[in-house]
Parts: sequence; C-alpha cells; structure tokens
Amino acid sequence: MDTKMYNMWLQYDSINNQTLREQYTEFFSKVRLIGNSEIFDSIKEELEIAVDKMLQQKVGWTASDDAKIVIANSSDWNIKAVEGLNEEGYTIVSNGNQLKIIGNSDRGALYGVFHLLRMMQMQESITTLSIKEQPTNPFRMINQWDNLDGSVERGYSGNSIFYENGKIVEDKTRIKDYARFLSSVGINAISINNVNVWEEETYFITKKYLPEIAEIASIFRGYGLQLYLSINFASPIAIGDLETADPLDGSVKNWWKDKVREIYDFIPDFGGFVVKADSEHRPGPFSYDRDHADGSNMLAEALEPFDGKVIWRCFVYNCLQDWRDRSTDRARAAYDHFKPLDGRFHSNVILQIKNGPMDFQVREPVSPLIGAMSETNQMMELQIAQEYTGHQIDLCYLIPQWKEVFSFDTYIQGEGSTIEKIVAGQIHPYRHSGVVAVSNIGNDENWTGHTLAQANLYGFGRLAWNPSLESETIAKEWLKQTFPQNNDVEQTILDMLMSSWPIYENYNAPLGVGWMVTTHLHYGPSIDGYEYSRWGTYHFADRDGMGVDRTKETGTGYTEQYEEPNRSMYNNLDTCPDELLLFFHHVPYKHTLKSGKTVIQHIYDTHFEGYEQVLGLQKKWDQLERVLDEERFNNVKERLERQRLNAREWRDQINTYFYRKSGIADEKNRTIY
Ligand code: GCU
Repeated sequence: MDTKMYNMWLQYDSINNQTLREQYTEFFSKVRLIGNSEIFDSIKEELEIAVDKMLQQKVGWTASDDAKIVIANSSDWNIKAVEGLNEEGYTIVSNGNQLKIIGNSDRGALYGVFHLLRMMQMQESITTLSIKEQPTNPFRMINQWDNLDGSVERGYSGNSIFYENGKIVEDKTRIKDYARFLSSVGINAISINNVNVWEEETYFITKKYLPEIAEIASIFRGYGLQLYLSINFASPIAIGDLETADPLDGSVKNWWKDKVREIYDFIPDFGGFVVKADSEHRPGPFSYDRDHADGSNMLAEALEPFDGKVIWRCFVYNCLQDWRDRSTDRARAAYDHFKPLDGRFHSNVILQIKNGPMDFQVREPVSPLIGAMSETNQMMELQIAQEYTGHQIDLCYLIPQWKEVFSFDTYIQGEGSTIEKIVAGQIHPYRHSGVVAVSNIGNDENWTGHTLAQANLYGFGRLAWNPSLESETIAKEWLKQTFPQNNDVEQTILDMLMSSWPIYENYNAPLGVGWMVTTHLHYGPSIDGYEYSRWGTYHFADRDGMGVDRTKETGTGYTEQYEEPNRSMYNNLDTCPDELLLFFHHVPYKHTLKSGKTVIQHIYDTHFEGYEQVLGLQKKWDQLERVLDEERFNNVKERLERQRLNAREWRDQINTYFYRKSGIADEKNRTIY
C-alpha cells in the first residue's frame, strides 16, 4: 500500500523548493555506506525509497573516498566511538562538500539516517551541520496487545497486523513497514503479543510458532528492534507436562531453562519475556505462596546466560474487591506489593510500572512506585492506545499528558528527582530502564483509526528518545512530515492537537476522579458503571459531595506513599491541585476550588465548555477541506462528528447526574435534564 493514509510520517513528499532540491540532489549523487549488516541493508533501502520519492532520482552509490555522503558505524571505520555518546548515539557533520553520519553502532547509524531524512522532509538545509544525538532512555519499547485470532485488546484501528484467524500473517510487508516507522522514531524493542496470554498464544514459545516468530524477529532486527514475547507464567503446566509452575521448584526452573535455550536457538538475539502475573486473573507466583521476586528471578536465571531480560509488570491489584469495603484502595496496590521487595530482584529483571496508580485515566497522579525502589530496575509504561481517552474516535494528543508525568518531581532523592531522570537511570544506578507503551496501531489503512492519532505514536518515540522535547515541537515535526507544507494547515492542526487533551478532560470524569465510563468497553459515559463493582474504581458521589478520601487522617493513607513535599501537598485539601482534587479528597459539591468556582459549578462549566470546544475543532478542521487530500480529510471529519456525539452524551449525563444528586442548579441556567 502506498497512500498518504498509509505512509504516516514517512511521506517523503517531492521537494519543490528549487534551492533545496539542488542541494539534496548533489549530496545524493555520491553516497558511501561503510558497513555490512541487516541494518545497513535497511539504511540502503530506506534511502532508495526516500530519494526516489523526494527527488525522483536514484541514489548514486559509491565506494570511493570523494563521496558526498558517508554513513558508517564508528567501529567499522576504525575511528574511535563518537566521544561522549552512548552506543546508540550518532553524529551528523556536514561542511558543504561532505556530510558524514557516524553511529556508535549500526543502530546509531540508522537513527542518524532517519534524522537526516526527517530534516529533508522538514525542508531544512543540510549543508552545514554539527549534530550530536543520543537517546536519553536505554529502553524505548512498544507492547502490542495483539491476539492470535487477529483481535487486538484495546485496539481501535482494526485488527492485528501480526495475526489473523489463529495464524501468524503470511504476508509480512506490513510488519516491515511498521518496523520502519518505529525505527524512524528510535524505538528499539517490541513485544508482539498481548500481555494476557491466552491458551494458544501460550504455545508461542514452542516449535509450533518459533520458526515464524523468528522471521518476525529478523524483520525487526533489520531496523534495530529487539523482539520480546509475553508469556504465560503457568506454561510449565499448560504446555509442559509439569503439575506445578512453582518458581522455587527445581523441575519448573529446569523447564524454563530448557525452554529459553530452545527460544535462543531460533532467535539468537531474543530480548526476553514480558510478564503479567497475578494480575487480573493471570497466573503467577502467588498461587504457590511465592512473591514477585521469586517469580521473576526464576525466569531471570533462565534468561541470564543469553543476556535476556524479564520485564515484569506491576499492574497487580485486587480485582475482586467488595465495593462496601472502604479501606482497600486499588491506588495503593502496586506500591504495597512491590516496594517491600526492593533489592531482591536479579539485575536482568525490570519492573514495568504504569504511569499512574490506577489505569491510564485521562488524569491521574504519577505512580508513587516509580523511583521508590533504588535497587530495582524500573521502566514506565504509557498507553498510546486511547483506551480511556477516546478510542481514537475522539481527538486526544497525549504528549502533553506524558510531558507532565516526565516532569513530575518525586523528591525521591531531593529536589530535581523527576520521573524523566528516574526512568533514564540518572537517579538510581539502574542497569536497565526506560519507557514502554501500549501501541495504538492496527490494520486500518491509516494504522491508527484516527489519522491524527498517528501523532501519538510518533510522539511517544520522540519523547522516549528525548523527554525534554516540547509537545509543540514534536507536533510540528510530525505535521511537517505528514501533511503538505502549508502554514495554515500546520497552525490549524497544531492548535487542534494542543487543545485536545484539555478538551477531552473537560467533558470526561471531573477533577481526577476518573472511571465514569461504560464498563468493559471504556468509551462513553456510565457514571455509576463501576460504582458498585469489584474493580476498586469508585467516585463515592452522594447528595452532599463526591471524591475518594486518600488522606492519611481519614482516608486510605495513599498519600503516604509519596515523598515530602508531595505527600503533604496531596494530603492537604488547601494545597492539593484542583485537577486532582477528587482523586485525593471527598468534598462537598459547594467546596470552592482554587479557581474560585465551586466543584459543582466547575463540573457544569467544563462540560458545557467541552462540548462547545468540540464544535470548535470541527470548524477548524472544515477549513482544511480544500488543502488536504480527500481521504485524510474525510477520515478526521467523520471522527470529529462521532466525537461531538460522545461529548454531548458526556456533557448531558454528567451534568444531569450531578444536578439530580446535589439538587444545586447551574448558575448560568443552561439546559440540564
Ligand atoms: C487494563 C485494560 C486491560 C489490560 C490491562 C493490563 O485493565 O483494560 O485490557 O489487560 O489494563 O494492562 O494488563
């Protein structure tokens, strides 16, 4: 497929600016690659695609010293590693006559090439450059939640590109294109199956599937991504002939050792396992009275000889809670389970922790577990898939949300202990760390359902590479590469993206309380949907007020999991930020926020405003009708109309519900039902 929808940000539109065209043409008349590997093959292929499309020219390959562009891995060229840069780093230096891209590894060279292509797509001059780049985060990983039957858990963009009808897809072109997209933004690892490993997927680690999985691994290898698999902790019982999966049992240990050896026979650079254990009914060490350190270390021992990793998820909580029980607090769970185990995990175990303590809500505080374990490797998990943020029907540019998370100061080692530094391994001496996200792609032609949701995938990669990039900068980069170069287009879509998360929040559950969504589906409002359920997700609205009391004195004590001054800041009603008020406190509807409004009036105002803002988005988009291609224009137009209906439903249900509960009228007397 070669359409504008399909090509996402690798459009490689023809360069019309004459000066730049001549400049690029000259450079690409003589290109020398010093390197010989699958990654260098990808470099060659990518340059051929890009140069053909941008300049309608063939790359002039050469082996001579007078090349205009030289691309090399520093070690192949017998030059010292580019100083001060890590293994994935690169330099791009250009003096007008010659441009050199030198990576500290093949992967570094590949990233350098994608950097150059990005500059060309953004129509920047490449004659005088002195660029030094390296990723901040060692791990920059994507988790697919794809199932063998072709479905994608929490997928909103069609079916899987990896599997269909119980089989791995035969035609792997699309997987290769996905690898190109991911690599172009610096992603270096991927797990290709759902963290919930069902019956047949448990066999992925057997001969039945390994040959084909090895093929997929080699596609990703060519683009610098290491392949991981999610595994079923009970595999020794499910696919072996053991009666136990007890991690301290000798036969179980040996079973995994043999299994791992077999996997490495097929995939010599296999990354390791992603494990969801003792979480939402998945099996784990608890069944044998063992803890998470026992469980993960057993797998770590098997993987260690091959330098494999265990990525152990911390999404562990009681999902059979009694709603009558006000003392159990799901938000506390990850910290309570894992923090006491600090120091017991092997050095090739990495804990994967969701950004918030609940589950990817539109607004949550940062998980207090991140950074709280100084002797245990940690990675942060984000969700690009818009499970609770509009299913890629509603527009929600998530980079600003993630930026807030990265910049949160935990004070774990005094001021400046930001999440950004913790996950980069700069606060504690982690051996492995970084960022991982649940993918938002599927086999829809445009990959992400909503065309503008491509920006979230792009942005995740860029932010994982460099968390200090600004949200606007990332959006502009993405826009320049994705849509025709036109200031109006850029400004209009930029405004839409930048306003979209606050708009979504406006018509969603208010002030950080979360969860008022249709159960299971997680799209559209259902205010009491989770209120009397077992999931631990409540708003406690009554006729007087609402919110969850998580304070030390009268609530669940969750605030105690933070360091000072965050602990007191959240615990104290006067200092708790408005946007998280109902996450931490139960307050009367007439409680006055720092904004000067009462809680109830805030609810009415934001919900009326949110809907109006969606009408504003529609108006903005309509202005682009003549400048954009029909396919992408119509795709977004259709989504915006569905977003409008969703926002209307949220507005009216939330306002009506709280009006009926509280009996307090809207000061502005607008229609409430
Ligand atoms: C959420 C999501 C599930 C997913 C789970 C997880 O609860 O709704 O579909 O399996 O997160 O992260 O494991």
